[in-house]
Amino acid sequence: MSDMDRRRFIRSAAAAGVAISAPDSLFGEGRAPAVHAQDRVAPKVIADRTGYTSRDESGTNAVSRALRGITGGEDVLDALIAGVTIPERDPEETGVGYGGVPNAEGVVQLDAACMHGPRGWAGGVGALEGVRTPSLVARDVMAQTDHHLLAGEGAQKFARQMGYEIEDSLTTDNSLRIWREWKRRIDPEHWLDPSERQEAGRQAAREMIREGLVDRTTYRGTIHCAGITPSGDVSAVTTTSGLWFKLPGRVGDSPILGAGLYVDNDVGTSGSTGRGEANLYNLSSFRAVQLMRDGRHPKDAGMEALRRIRDSTRDPRLMDEEGRPAFNVRFFLLNREGQHAGVAMYAGGDAESEYALCTEEGAELMTFEPLLEGGPAG
Ligand code: GLY
Repeated sequence: MSDMDRRRFIRSAAAAGVAISAPDSLFGEGRAPAVHAQDRVAPKVIADRTGYTSRDESGTNAVSRALRGITGGEDVLDALIAGVTIPERDPEETGVGYGGVPNAEGVVQLDAACMHGPRGWAGGVGALEGVRTPSLVARDVMAQTDHHLLAGEGAQKFARQMGYEIEDSLTTDNSLRIWREWKRRIDPEHWLDPSERQEAGRQAAREMIREGLVDRTTYRGTIHCAGITPSGDVSAVTTTSGLWFKLPGRVGDSPILGAGLYVDNDVGTSGSTGRGEANLYNLSSFRAVQLMRDGRHPKDAGMEALRRIRDSTRDPRLMDEEGRPAFNVRFFLLNREGQHAGVAMYAGGDAESEYALCTEEGAELMTFEPLLEGGPAG
């Protein structure tokens, strides 16, 4: 970590103090229940890059906020969720929550899920409209219902019943500007031919990325955040506004257990960002945690999950000229010994190359281990 980053971490952590609002604890005040009894692990939080770059008014980012909660004895999942609500509430962050780029009809629909390692609980929401912090609603689905996943109107109704403010729209001037530009570029006539319309939409988005109108790294913007306590308990949360300009109702991998995230308190965690459809075909997070259960290091488990996605990609429209996946997928892995990894199908070209790590030494950006050279073609 550079001196500048260290100073920024110390400053933001100090500024944050106890003033940062945390969700009401799942387990009341005091230390959260630990399954693994003795402190033996250096506490740690990993997340995608947004977990480092997005900051609240006090300058605190998600990973620093989460680690501070974990070391302060807050429940591990409460701490992680308090962290990701920072980018969820950030109007400048176009990949999650408020200000996330809307779907094809200009409506922001959010997906999120969380898993609590010590309890073995999980909850999720899909295509939720009107609530800036879907991760908190996912936590309430986990803690307050017998279900795992609520979607669409049902998810919103549940959120209203839980007392969340339902806003008419989560768009911002910036996200609407991006959506209007995309709309302007696609030919409405293509609605008559779904395959051409789909390609026109992709082409418009590619051009907008190339022209610098939008940031490639947030095109499938998602934040995954996982953490481990000193006693080796783990939890994770994933939250996203999903693929930009998606069809209304599209739910990606983020809220699906085994895909967007998976937690086994005896083994570790895996979570994903990138092309959700590719992850869903392989339930890669479940697979990666199983590989870690078999003794594989988080990096090896993540690489194996990526290889499986590469090998199962057979649709020519999803492949580049060399037959490689034309899209990116990333995994963030953490085992109960506190070893971690960030791996990506691609980390070169204009692909995102870094992810976030926070330890008691401070927050820093780490470099992804890529499976394939260069960047994705699509
Ligand atoms: N991985 C996020 C999504 O595809 O929605």
